Amino acid sequence: MRKGKVVVVTRRIPEAGMEPLRAAGLELRVLVEQEDQGPARDHILAAVQDCHLLVPLLTEPVDRGILEAGTELLGVAQMAVGFDNVDVAAATELGIPVGNTPGVLTDTTADLAWALLMATARRIPEAHAYQVEGRYRLWGPNLFTGMDVSPGGSGRRKVLGIVGYGRIGQAVAQRSQGFDMDVLAYDPHNREGIDEDARVTWADLPELLERSDFVTLHTLLTRETRHLIGEAELRAMKPTAILVNTARGPVVDEEALVVALREGWIAGAGLDVYEDEPAMKPGLAELRSAVLLPHIASASRDTRDRMARMTAANGLAFLKGEPGPTTVNPQVYDSAAWRARVERILGAAPGGRP
Ligand code: DGY
Repeated sequence: MRKGKVVVVTRRIPEAGMEPLRAAGLELRVLVEQEDQGPARDHILAAVQDCHLLVPLLTEPVDRGILEAGTELLGVAQMAVGFDNVDVAAATELGIPVGNTPGVLTDTTADLAWALLMATARRIPEAHAYQVEGRYRLWGPNLFTGMDVSPGGSGRRKVLGIVGYGRIGQAVAQRSQGFDMDVLAYDPHNREGIDEDARVTWADLPELLERSDFVTLHTLLTRETRHLIGEAELRAMKPTAILVNTARGPVVDEEALVVALREGWIAGAGLDVYEDEPAMKPGLAELRSAVLLPHIASASRDTRDRMARMTAANGLAFLKGEPGPTTVNPQVYDSAAWRARVERILGAAPGGRP
């Protein structure tokens, strides 16, 4: 790695990712140090001008204007699996590879989806508040009755509808076996379907919504999936059903969801993500049937370290003019735009594929 390369990190990532970048002799510029503040777009725009690698988080816009301003950019290495904040089409056109962190957060995210599902079905936050506020006086048969996830009292196997059947969706399905559930799977980006097995059946969205006791979302946010779950879809669900979203907020029409919960079209929702994150639509926070978390699905220390390491690995490859281990636009490596960019900036032809 040639010294003197500039890396702009929009907000500090875990040391597990900072350290390899520093060890490579790169100049690291962290735009904002506060945990709860992100850089304004103008700040990123100015910083990217002489920058060779941009390391953004999912909260920062990496739009065409920013990418065009980054004339020296050899890559964008985002510390997240989702990349809807990055204009990948523009990056590809400009010859800029974009890296993400798939795989390493699969289990942690699937675990959290289950935690939300269980917490919503069994009303755990409400019951916790009741207990710590000293309101528990006497055990009673109606105290915080919720819904079974396993066959439980009714003996009926519950149906889990998984929307988005990639790595995380499949990990969620795997965990459902412990609860003896039947799984319906639908994937808006994979119309071909999957290999069905005894417990997992491929369904279209209307059938999945109609039959599921729990619907959990694990799809990327794209033009096709924005408001995939809107008023019609919420009305199509069972009145006893629970919706879980650990994917991206805009996949759900949140205003419609507030109405659905208020009017009992569905029984509950467990949300880790919001349409206008971090804001919530009016009324959502007041609903007892909603369990609400601040986008923590991948938040285990080990997983965040692995994400950071993977981000650094992508970034270090990009800076050498080599394909990154996990690139969301691998077609860029076949483009004249990438070759020309690498040759102009590094003065040498790109390296081979990994
Ligand atoms: C992602 O990686 O896309 C998650 O939303 C945060 O880990």
